[in-house]
Amino acid sequence: MVWERETREYDGKAKRVWSVRGAPDLVILQFTDDATAFNGVKRASIPDKGRINVEITTHLLERVAAAGVPTHLVARQGEDLVCRRVSIIPVEIVVRNVCAGSLAKRYGVPEGTKLAYPLVEHFYKSDKLDDPLMTEEHAVLFGWATREELAVCRALALSVNDALKAFWDGLGVDLVDFKLEFGRLPDGTVVLADEITPDGSRLWERGTGRHLDKDVFRRDLGDLSATYRDLYARVFGRPFVAGS
Ligand SMILES: Nc1ncnc2c1ncn2[C@@H]1O[C@H](COP(=O)(O)OP(=O)(O)O)[C@@H](O)[C@H]1O
Ligand SMILES: [Mg+2]
Repeated sequence: MVWERETREYDGKAKRVWSVRGAPDLVILQFTDDATAFNGVKRASIPDKGRINVEITTHLLERVAAAGVPTHLVARQGEDLVCRRVSIIPVEIVVRNVCAGSLAKRYGVPEGTKLAYPLVEHFYKSDKLDDPLMTEEHAVLFGWATREELAVCRALALSVNDALKAFWDGLGVDLVDFKLEFGRLPDGTVVLADEITPDGSRLWERGTGRHLDKDVFRRDLGDLSATYRDLYARVFGRPFVAGS
């Protein structure tokens, strides 16, 4: 089965969303080479990022699905991810195993401090407001998700963490933190949506602490394209070949 892009519905910061010809219940996420940081203030085009991210996302979504987490994934076609269309819950779920980034800054806790158990944080998905941190109570009160949906998101996010931690561990990489988005299918079932990529995760090489994620771009630590090609080779056990 080959799915065809129909109408361009939305241009996001790193992906384009398309409707699918003859399949209103599906959506195509086209992964682009665009990189942004600090909510779009810093921008660049990173060679091969789209293709690397779509392949890594596909692989990781398949892994978490095998661990029992329902996802929106249908198939990958080149740089396109064919997905079940969901109504996105505007609550970004961040799972953290090690203190870093905004958590370190917010509370003055040094980056690299190990957390005794995974921390689950909620952010309101709003570019206009800079994705503010919130509690589950805010999300319920403002009608962004029900208590039941948030409980499902939390449980699924922790399952994703278990599966991904084990996976990256086997590749000599520490999973520091990552962001997930969930959505509702037409019947109300909550499934994991969007992407799992080094754009939205922190991955530190064990031993050296070298960043294998978008912090290389945010913090000007080196060549992001080369870093992502490196990560690709670790995940798939072969070098990334452009245009393949
Ligand atoms: N299965 C899906 N159905 C509908 N929308 C989705 C699905 N998966 C992800 N999305 C949305 O598609 C958009 C992807 O583009 P992205 O570049 O990540 O945008 P953004 O700048 O909003 O983060 C996001 O807004 C995301 O919430
Ligand atoms: Mg996004």
